[in-house]
Amino acid sequence: MSIGHLSILDPAQETFTLGVCYYPEHWPRDRWAGYARRMREAGLAYVRIAEFAWSRMEPEPGYYEWGWLDEAIDTLHAEGLRVVLCTPTATPPAWLVRAHPEILPVDAEGRVRQFGSRKHYDHASPIYREHSRRITREIAGRYGQHPAVVGWQTDNEFGCHDTTRSYGPASQVAFREWLAARYGTLDDLNEAWGAVFWSQEYGDWDQILPPNLTVTEPNPSHVLDFARYASDMVAEFQAEQVAILRELSPGRWVTHNFMIFFSDFDHYRVAEGLDFVSWDNYPTGMLDRSDEPVDVKLHFARTGEPDLIGFNHDLYRGLLHDEDGSGRAFWVMEQQCGQVNWAASNPLPAPGAIAVWTAQAYAHGASTVSYFRWRAATMAQELMHSGLLRHDETDDWGLAEIGSLELPGRANDPVRTPVALLHDYESLWAYDSQPHSAGASYWGQVLQYYVALRSLGLDVDIIHPDRDLTAYRLVVAPALHLMSSARAAHLTEVARRSHVIFGPRTAFRTPTGRVHEGGAPGPLGALVGWTLMNVDGLRHGLVQHAGGHEVTVWAECYSPYHGDSSAEVVVTYDDGPMATEPAVVRRGNVATIGAWSPTLVTSVLRDTCALVGIETINLPRGVRISRRGGLTTAVNFTSERFDLSDGESLGPVSFRQW
Ligand code: GAL
Repeated sequence: MSIGHLSILDPAQETFTLGVCYYPEHWPRDRWAGYARRMREAGLAYVRIAEFAWSRMEPEPGYYEWGWLDEAIDTLHAEGLRVVLCTPTATPPAWLVRAHPEILPVDAEGRVRQFGSRKHYDHASPIYREHSRRITREIAGRYGQHPAVVGWQTDNEFGCHDTTRSYGPASQVAFREWLAARYGTLDDLNEAWGAVFWSQEYGDWDQILPPNLTVTEPNPSHVLDFARYASDMVAEFQAEQVAILRELSPGRWVTHNFMIFFSDFDHYRVAEGLDFVSWDNYPTGMLDRSDEPVDVKLHFARTGEPDLIGFNHDLYRGLLHDEDGSGRAFWVMEQQCGQVNWAASNPLPAPGAIAVWTAQAYAHGASTVSYFRWRAATMAQELMHSGLLRHDETDDWGLAEIGSLELPGRANDPVRTPVALLHDYESLWAYDSQPHSAGASYWGQVLQYYVALRSLGLDVDIIHPDRDLTAYRLVVAPALHLMSSARAAHLTEVARRSHVIFGPRTAFRTPTGRVHEGGAPGPLGALVGWTLMNVDGLRHGLVQHAGGHEVTVWAECYSPYHGDSSAEVVVTYDDGPMATEPAVVRRGNVATIGAWSPTLVTSVLRDTCALVGIETINLPRGVRISRRGGLTTAVNFTSERFDLSDGESLGPVSFRQW
């Protein structure tokens, strides 16, 4: 079920709103009333609770203790705070694991992952599914109609700590069932996987295992289907909870908090049953863990890098859509408000950064930003993580910063842009299973196009390739590695109205992960007018050139013909084994770029925008402009002042709206 707009279920939320993640079970009860009062005074409206509190809800099998949670919710309610309640399934309690150790996940090395942290379950385990439904029914039955409870979060960060894919007995059985349903016969499966290669053919379903612990790399088609299977298990696991919440908690919304650049399941599919999407934004940790070069990591150490953050905002805005076709307003369920504890190094954010992150979230389509967490934990794994309050309960910097924040925006104003960037998790899985060059990755390639578009001053909708794309004048498809005939037909339709730009490795594989008979780009050939000739996985330091631009990581060249269709050669390689061969080709309003080269990509995008009539500007890295509703927001993540074209200037680590 989809609600169209948030405001239908929560009419109070017309303006952009702030919230906080809170763990009443971590603090003595005599603190609760004072905390609730301070939350209200700080201007926070929403409080998310209970996602890890199963051991307090059900300390022994079938024995529930709700008194503490009744009081916690009532205390928040008394201050007019609105509660987001969670299903607590991210943390099955010790007694459950002891009684049913078979619910534990098994890692790719075949080791059982034990109790003692969180996310210790296999989504496919029938016993865990049963307990997940049971505890969901209990908590939804008790609080589903509580006046303070306005919405639900399912579980917490599906897949966190590498838990989407489990390789133990539960997954082995479920994977075989999934394959049997998909292929029907083993002949079809063997054909789809090209299993004749290395005598991998199967004569019985029971011979099939998950693709781990193989002597050398497993078959990429096997890997691709295991990724699809594991993704479906997450979707099913959540759907069971959502159905119960709908039944027992009418009139409340349901969301889930997704993660930064997380790739292990298909987020479009997992988001399907939700009312809106949320994600957890940790800018400094995200940068520290990214593939960005050391100088970028240093430059943005205290702010995070705006395009890494913006990409995730735009991605999550595009998982669900409103009736008018615009990406649906989302929540940042957990927003960093001090330092994190989980990156290799955890610098303090720069003064101003928390305000800038909040303004940026609004500008990219958020309706609510909820800070993680209320008070810094005095115990256990996250005691080095900041909160809005310090360990000693005094206000930390983040709280002071949001106290003076005024964001006038309306919560449901849409972001509208003529530019779409296409993204598909199945292409990601196939691409990353065989990167073929040490520096190549799906996200890396897609980001190159995103950063180029943002540096040209453009807003970007990130959306699934099979959606209706009629609203866009420029459609950028950086890495659609898998190509079916249906997708090719759809893109051909799209190209009748819009300009389309493809990146390297487009349409290299069939949907089962094989190369197309007749080579790439298979069914896309008539549209793009080229046939792939050669690919070049460049080792680190090996630099080629195309049209004067540096090319690293990846290069591929084309014959500008495909059957009766042909393309115009726009740029050729200057050097290397592919010298004089086509690097960029164009057929009508469809261009293909074969080289990994940020400057070449920017120049083709700029030229195409000029052809389409989309105005561009040039922004330095760290300064970005976004438009939402009638409001323009400029953010400056750098430590230097930046002069805007209207004569106003942006101070270091600051934002301006007009
Ligand atoms: C998130 C998680 C939170 C907390 C936080 C710390 O990934 O959802 O529970 O662990 O990270 O930054």
